[in-house]
Amino acid sequence: CGIVGYVGSRESTPILIEGLHRLEYRGYDSAGLAVARRGRLRVTKTAGCVQDLRDRLGKNTTGTVGLAHTRWATHGEPSDLNAHPHVDPGGRIAVVHNGVLENAEPLRKKLIDDGVQLASDTDTEILAHLIAATVDAGGASLEDAVRAVLQRVEGTYGLLVLDARNPRELVVARNGSPIVLGIGDGEMFATSDMAALVRHTNRMVHLDDGELATISADAYRTSTMQADPTDKVPAAVDLADEDYQLNGFPDFMRKEIHDQTRAGHRALRGRLDERFATARLDGLGLDARELRAVRRVKFLGCGSAYYAGQLGANLVEELARLPADAEPASEFRYRNPVIEEGTLYVAVSQSGETLDTLAAVQELKRKGGQVVGLVNAVGSAIARECGSGVFLHAGPEVSVASTKAVTNMSLSFALLALLLGRVRDLSMAHGRRLVAALAAIPDRITDVLAAEEQAIAAAERYAGTEHMFFVGRVRGWPVAREGAQKLKEISYVHAEAYEAAELKHGPLALIDHTMPSVVIVPDDELLAKNIGTIEQIRARNGPVIAITNADLPEGLAETVIRLPRGEPELDPILFTVPLQLFAYHLATALGRNVDKPRNLAKSVTVE
Ligand code: G6P
Repeated sequence: CGIVGYVGSRESTPILIEGLHRLEYRGYDSAGLAVARRGRLRVTKTAGCVQDLRDRLGKNTTGTVGLAHTRWATHGEPSDLNAHPHVDPGGRIAVVHNGVLENAEPLRKKLIDDGVQLASDTDTEILAHLIAATVDAGGASLEDAVRAVLQRVEGTYGLLVLDARNPRELVVARNGSPIVLGIGDGEMFATSDMAALVRHTNRMVHLDDGELATISADAYRTSTMQADPTDKVPAAVDLADEDYQLNGFPDFMRKEIHDQTRAGHRALRGRLDERFATARLDGLGLDARELRAVRRVKFLGCGSAYYAGQLGANLVEELARLPADAEPASEFRYRNPVIEEGTLYVAVSQSGETLDTLAAVQELKRKGGQVVGLVNAVGSAIARECGSGVFLHAGPEVSVASTKAVTNMSLSFALLALLLGRVRDLSMAHGRRLVAALAAIPDRITDVLAAEEQAIAAAERYAGTEHMFFVGRVRGWPVAREGAQKLKEISYVHAEAYEAAELKHGPLALIDHTMPSVVIVPDDELLAKNIGTIEQIRARNGPVIAITNADLPEGLAETVIRLPRGEPELDPILFTVPLQLFAYHLATALGRNVDKPRNLAKSVTVE
């Protein structure tokens, strides 16, 4: 979900609406806005998107202070009533909230027992009532009232509160859901995502969990739950408006797929050491002795970041000969994982805000695990919690389905694997080969994109299909998983990934002429095995789309998407790109909204 708040001297509504538009990608089944004017709140909200909200705004939605929200339903169906902001019955206090209150039920019950009529099913409305009751009782400032109410609440929140009777300030609080203050000139902003502020300021203050702030046109004050001042100073962040514009592309996903050469160069810049045939990742804060002490590497992430982590684990095993694996952060945090000394845990996240990944990091730290971040968003919660790591430098990613961030994850894993390998027994000669091949990948991506018509033709050919397999082996296996993920996310076609040799243990029963399989066929020592897999599928009349950089026997596969050849260890990084294109073109052929697939959000800050 997305939050924006403004206090200053300008008209707030256009600023809030523009901010919401920039945050729509985070979740968008309803949207709402409240401004304060002459001691009264003016609230507009609607199920639907930001454009629907804009269409509904009345002429008198004016005022120089306000807050707004786009929502992705957690509690309660998406509806006008459940949309934020939520307001107390007296119409004094407006609240927008990301996160989930865990003790909402007992609080709700108590309010109902006290005779309060609740208008919605949301946990947020409870906050509005409790805060209003506290300020109405007199004596408490808005900040103190918010603090007092939050002390009764369990759960996660990033929230903004507006009191219509005091339209010169907003109160903001954070616990487990991101909130950033934007420091302007005679105006202040608060948001869940800096993207909302790109037009207005690049001076930001990141709130930590358990922190509150009061912002007014020309001041901000941050403090703890115990009211101790925290005296935060603003940091300048790198935000480019261009990253949030389509610049002639039909959608952000396509723009971001095509940005992968530039993004890839950024991931590698200054990090390849040709002389010593290794990588430089100073942000890890690990010297050669500490790197040598690593006995095992474990990657933790969610969704595409998890699949990318699997690719990373393969690279570490291959290049550094260290045991390595990947696990969904969400599983890891709910097990009681054994935290081993000598294991380097790597938290992988584009947004740096995914709650399950953040919680895994916190659990690791509690138990003394050594954890580094591999994160795209600078200043994000996971990056700050880890303290050290590698930034992906993919630039902002707007489309819900991750593309350039995934590629930069893989490139960064290759750097990490090379570094870990070179302090062990990876030879100088092998290291040189890998450094040269890595440096060449961004430009190879350009070649793959230039051959986009292959993916377009394949996508058009299979656009009518209902189910698809994605099949890969060893290096190709994480590629297949990410390929299936992309297709299902944006096209809603059912796609499942299988390890090639596992097909014969069950899924082969599903193969017939209606079940196409996308088979990942790298030109490596397993080529013959993968050709065998294709033959098995063809023998059951299954159509095959081979993604390959090998010379396959003529007529082996029904459709072939060809790629350039690099170094076999690194080629999987490139294989993901045609699968992005395939998913993209198949989804657009079906008329899907690729940037905003149904039911999904860009960054999931709830459990
Ligand atoms: C959401 C997105 C996925 C993404 C995952 C992890 O589920 O829809 O595309 O891979 O979160 O996001 P992160 O920001 O942690 O990489």
